[in-house]
Amino acid sequence: MGLYSSYIFPRLLDWSLGNAMIQRQRGEALAPLHGHVLEIGFGTGLNLPYYPPHVTRLTAIDSEAMLPGRVADRIARAQVPVAQLQLDAGGRLPFEDEAFDGVVTTFTLCSIADVASALAEIGRVLKPEGDYVFLEHGRSDDTRVAKRQDFFNPIQKLIGRGCNMNRPIDKLVDAAGLRITKLDRYMMPDTPRMLGEMYRGIAKKGDARDDAVQK
Ligand SMILES: C[S@@+](CC[C@H](N)C(=O)[O-])C[C@H]1O[C@@H](n2cnc3c(N)ncnc32)[C@H](O)[C@@H]1O
Repeated sequence: MGLYSSYIFPRLLDWSLGNAMIQRQRGEALAPLHGHVLEIGFGTGLNLPYYPPHVTRLTAIDSEAMLPGRVADRIARAQVPVAQLQLDAGGRLPFEDEAFDGVVTTFTLCSIADVASALAEIGRVLKPEGDYVFLEHGRSDDTRVAKRQDFFNPIQKLIGRGCNMNRPIDKLVDAAGLRITKLDRYMMPDTPRMLGEMYRGIAKKGDARDDAVQK
């Protein structure tokens, strides 16, 4: 890995995703969780302070080990016990079916190369009554913006180390057989439109769909 990938990118990521506005959104997104939770794409552990007290255990996976010292400090300060594993979420996960009360991804579905497999695995390891909670950026519903996202996506993938800005998050979740019960669509303030189209929601196994879509 070059200097950008190994040194600059992790710090840039930690800084850009760690600002106060995004941290508030993490708290809102994670609030419904309880019990044993799986976080996919743990990154630098920025979600840790925002897990509600009824989360009793966290299993955190990522295909990389970014800023290990900083992450170890965050885990040591966390209110919840954390088991951290380096794993590719695009393959079969080493967990039993229906092992987790909740699964979380934040700013991660954009980066997983085999996102369809990862979402299928989320459905497999989630308990029937469990919540899959997501806070993701993705494709715009405005076709002009979506066209720009498609055009600039190859550059974004280079700068963002595999991050796609044009993925239709709700459609991908649906296609994996998960049923979205809550979806907030909004723009991240002070962010270029191509990167700031947000999807915050909850999905479950089963087919109840509550069209509580807020735009
Ligand atoms: C943009 S970062 C977001 C980090 C963190 N979720 C956050 O909200 O700050 C995306 C993360 O997904 C991880 N990731 C990408 N592909 C992955 C895969 N196939 N399996 C597991 N993690 C993956 C990256 O290593 C990175 O840590």
